[in-house]
Amino acid sequence: MLDKIKPTSAVNAPNDLNAFWMPFTANRAFKRAPKMVVGAEGMHYITADGRKIIDAASGMWCTNAGHGRKEIAEAIKAQADELDFSPPFQFGQPKAFELASRIADLAPEGLDHVFFCNSGSEAGDTALKIAVAYQQIKGQGSRTRLIGRERGYHGVGFGGTAVGGIGNNRKMFGPLLNGVDHLPATYDRDKQAFTIGEPEYGAHFAEALEGLVNLHGANTIAAVIVEPMAGSTGVLPAPKGYLKKLREITKKHGILLIFDEVITGYGRLGYAFASERYGVTPDMITFAKGVTNGAVPMGGVITSAEIHDAFMTGPEHAVELAHGYTYSAHPLACAAGIATLDIYRDEKLFERAKALEPKFAEAVMSLKSAPNVVDIRTVGLTAGIDLASIADAVGKRGFEAMNAGFHDHELMLRIAGDTLALTPPLILSEDHIGEIVDKVGKVIRAVA
Ligand SMILES: Cc1ncc(COP(=O)(O)O)c(C=O)c1O
Repeated sequence: MLDKIKPTSAVNAPNDLNAFWMPFTANRAFKRAPKMVVGAEGMHYITADGRKIIDAASGMWCTNAGHGRKEIAEAIKAQADELDFSPPFQFGQPKAFELASRIADLAPEGLDHVFFCNSGSEAGDTALKIAVAYQQIKGQGSRTRLIGRERGYHGVGFGGTAVGGIGNNRKMFGPLLNGVDHLPATYDRDKQAFTIGEPEYGAHFAEALEGLVNLHGANTIAAVIVEPMAGSTGVLPAPKGYLKKLREITKKHGILLIFDEVITGYGRLGYAFASERYGVTPDMITFAKGVTNGAVPMGGVITSAEIHDAFMTGPEHAVELAHGYTYSAHPLACAAGIATLDIYRDEKLFERAKALEPKFAEAVMSLKSAPNVVDIRTVGLTAGIDLASIADAVGKRGFEAMNAGFHDHELMLRIAGDTLALTPPLILSEDHIGEIVDKVGKVIRAVA
């Protein structure tokens, strides 16, 4: 298939890049030297000038089953022919119920209701709203405070931005939400550098929640939201015991615990959800990205029966939760989701990720002595490689590495500042691991 995509596809590319204001992009730099892709299959993208580049980023942590999956494309097409759209408010379509059941089956025991939306950002805001509403229903209306974590990322809605902990994402947008506070990040380079998997050091960072309870009063706190592995700030795996401790403290104080599994869901850490890897069941899990292999936008929140059932009171004609989206459980997304979960199951991709994890970690750690590498972290099929920043130009080395990868080394990677993030499709082979690591090494040397 890739062979059929000719560089001439670029002929159809727009010749004026001006109108599209690109998201989270250095727009002017992009438009001077576009990184344009026109096709994808398996582990590769094809660029507008006809080069085949290896995808070390699963697009954007999305395409866990690799690109161009026919089964997904066919399911989307068949669904579009059969039922293009149906209203999700007050009406239903079978695949929404089927997909919800399939997701609930994958989720940890006790999490068995799924609320659909269209992105990780919507999933984060939905979970936060459900948390506050739940506390109110339970007669605890003073519990409105939301706790996130420094270096956390929960998307770009006002709620997700407020509980998020990335300064650059927050500082242009005013006061965001009232009544938000943050746990400290779980990263300490001095104590954790070059750890494979979960660091030994850092479970105690969860105890900061006791401090916030002392400061604000447990009776003001609705929920805590964290990523089991903070991805967008450069792959920070949870320290050993950290999530268990957070679960204990939240339970003790009647605070809901939300895991943002937008990245860690659907196999990234070798399990359907990271919650399973860590043996910790939160009250809600948010997901997106991998649920449809990135093929159609979709996100959602998985909740406990206790939360769901608390809403199922009042007159039967009344809407129980005044929340939802026109495109919640969109038929095309549901069809793509079911086809995607079939692939994950039939090809045992979560198990594959788990089996490949040690080899992937070992290969990436071989870059330890490459120039400017100051830390490497790995967990599941994900790695973060910190490069020393150029003085007075934080983020420039990372940016140049991403560009060098694309333009000169046939490699797509993601960056978070000066951290290179590797998060390849779970279908990758050991040869692909070698190829990616080799290319990353070349890129690191190119920006030294
Ligand atoms: C942990 C996490 N939460 C939420 C989001 C936001 O998802 P989206 O971009 O689909 O809104 C992301 C996106 O990368 C994410 O990594």
